[in-house]
Amino acid sequence: MRGGLVAAAVAVFTSVSLVLAGEDGFPRYQPAFQPPGLRKRYEEAFKAELEKRSLDNSSDSSAIPYTQLWFPQKVDHFDPSNNNTFQQRYWLSTHFYKPGGPIFVLEGGETSGAGRIEYMQTGIGRYITEYLGGIGIVLEHRYYGKSHVTPNLTVENLKWLDTAQSLKDNAYFAENLWKELPANLSHIRPDTAPFISYGGSYAGSKSAFLQVEYPEAYYGSLASSAVVWAGENFWEYNEPLRQRGDPVCIAILEETARRIDTYSAVGGSEWLEFKELFGVKRLEDRDAANFIFGVLGIWQAGNWDKNLSGAKSWDLFCGNITDGLDDVYGSRDCTEKILSERPDLDLEEGIYNFARWTRASLRSSCGNADVDKCVGTWDQKGYEGESLSDSWRLWSWQVCTEWGYLIPGAPMGLPTLMPRIVDLAYLRRMCQYSFKMAPDFVIDSSKVLKYGGYNLTAPRLMYIDGTHDPWLYATPHSPHSPQHDRSDHLSILIQDAWHHNDENGLGDISKEPLRIQDVHLREIEVVRNWVLEFHKDKGNKWEPPRRF
Ligand SMILES: *[C@@H]1O[C@H](CO)[C@@H](O)[C@H](O)[C@H]1NC(C)=O
Ligand SMILES: *[C@@H]1O[C@H](CO)[C@@H](O)[C@H](O)[C@H]1NC(C)=O
Ligand SMILES: *[C@@H]1O[C@H](CO)[C@@H](O)[C@H](O)[C@H]1NC(C)=O
Ligand SMILES: *[C@@H]1O[C@H](CO)[C@@H](O)[C@H](O)[C@H]1NC(C)=O
Ligand SMILES: *[C@@H]1O[C@H](CO)[C@@H](O)[C@H](O)[C@H]1NC(C)=O
Ligand SMILES: *[C@@H]1O[C@H](CO)[C@@H](O)[C@H](O)[C@H]1NC(C)=O
Ligand SMILES: *[C@@H]1O[C@H](CO)[C@@H](O)[C@H](O)[C@H]1NC(C)=O
Repeated sequence: MRGGLVAAAVAVFTSVSLVLAGEDGFPRYQPAFQPPGLRKRYEEAFKAELEKRSLDNSSDSSAIPYTQLWFPQKVDHFDPSNNNTFQQRYWLSTHFYKPGGPIFVLEGGETSGAGRIEYMQTGIGRYITEYLGGIGIVLEHRYYGKSHVTPNLTVENLKWLDTAQSLKDNAYFAENLWKELPANLSHIRPDTAPFISYGGSYAGSKSAFLQVEYPEAYYGSLASSAVVWAGENFWEYNEPLRQRGDPVCIAILEETARRIDTYSAVGGSEWLEFKELFGVKRLEDRDAANFIFGVLGIWQAGNWDKNLSGAKSWDLFCGNITDGLDDVYGSRDCTEKILSERPDLDLEEGIYNFARWTRASLRSSCGNADVDKCVGTWDQKGYEGESLSDSWRLWSWQVCTEWGYLIPGAPMGLPTLMPRIVDLAYLRRMCQYSFKMAPDFVIDSSKVLKYGGYNLTAPRLMYIDGTHDPWLYATPHSPHSPQHDRSDHLSILIQDAWHHNDENGLGDISKEPLRIQDVHLREIEVVRNWVLEFHKDKGNKWEPPRRF
């Protein structure tokens, strides 16, 4: 298995997050509302793993070499009185470069850029640079990884962590990179070389926004699972799973959620027994629901490449809870239908399995630690810490100030996987506790939606989404989008694919499943046409180095 960890989702992260595989095979996932105790237990291991993925240090000697470099970036692009700079980390390779080829900049997003280098060696970055003779670059996001902007992460010092500053970083980088490069690369500038942006997830939305804000710096963008919509309440995160997951498994989850809401409203012995069955008797009600349903985040790590860490976690979970249940039932629909068509379906046993699995994963994650200290969320001390090593604050800050994406139960009247007692008031505490925000704080998602939301289109902007992606409802292919039924050549909705599943690859397109080959070939072709157009406009001749 590549990676060595189970990558599962902390739902508050959009693009990556990591959960260690417990020794007993049960993934150590983190619920949407990340309990500080659990975070602290595994923080160092997560970070070490991300850095390790920096393939400069790859044991694979045939890996395409990427050099780690530093770019003097402006701290504040919009305040002329502030001339401070910080060192922004990036990795660059001219391995496949042929003059005229694209400058392919893969956006790091809300994590260490080191974890993205594999995409330049065996994924989309490899294909674009190899087939089109490009220069490959991974640009780490300000504040993340080692691209520190300030000496600590106090609220005062987080003020330069926002989407607008970060977008301008990408533009300023493209415009000034040539000054950092050897003389024979001094033509690597947006007016003489086509810069192409690629991003997946939050990074994908940045790639899309660049086509609105700085098209003069980035000639084209591939935006994968681009979360162009933002807002406080993103209950739809669990909709793709509810609609696409194994129906028996989903029926068990829905029924468990329903019981949690019903029993907890009444309280008493029935509720206590139910909590005890799941091993969470000592937890506050909402913390109990939050932990039990934290497993929903595992769905996000799904991938067509089953060798990737985490890609099989959901199936293992689902296999466990449907174990012993007769699941010849094949249709794709939810509880009510299943129950009416299959009155003999034994959900009791499924719920019992789910409880057993939850107890085992709790043991795997918390060992002998006090359950409340490990997965409780009410002790405000857990949110202290403002040093650079408290990097959990970074995406939380972006969530609490601009992006939202809190994931409560579905509105009344609609089926829900997440129990409704996991509500916005419960989830918003993360912002209050972490950043001392007033209880009535507002997440200003207009700072994101102003780039166009679902309606954002541009002449050289390609969208790639996946039918199973939990972030689907925030992307241009969202069923909520007026133009979700996109059939133009710059939109792809990959069937049976999860979150930015075109970013990873096998290093050899011909070995990939056909539907993924098709996507990668279309992406190469789209970028080839952009590069051709760029050079045609300048009166240059250009031929891609490789046929495909
Ligand atoms: C590679 O490993 C060495 C030694 O373990 C370390 O000092 C260096 O920073 C690593 N390089 C990267 C790019 O992570
Ligand atoms: C910042 O740099 C600009 C351009 O070099 C210069 O004109 C200005 O005086 C500088 N401002 C400060 C506060 O140093
Ligand atoms: C955080 O860094 C600032 C400088 O940016 C410094 O003035 C302040 O004392 C530091 N605060 C803490 C709590 O370390
Ligand atoms: C630029 O010059 C360096 C050193 O002379 C050389 O190694 C490299 O191959 C050249 N790069 C290109 C793209 O010509
Ligand atoms: C997964 O790994 C196995 C064993 O290393 C290998 O044989 C197989 O080809 C890999 N599959 C993919 C899709 O990479
Ligand atoms: C249940 O989960 C465990 C731990 O992940 C796994 O080893 C086992 O194969 C699963 N069982 C089924 C029936 O999926
Ligand atoms: C998006 O376009 C639709 C029409 O296609 C329009 O009704 C809607 O107001 C637009 N939304 C935004 C945010 O501009």
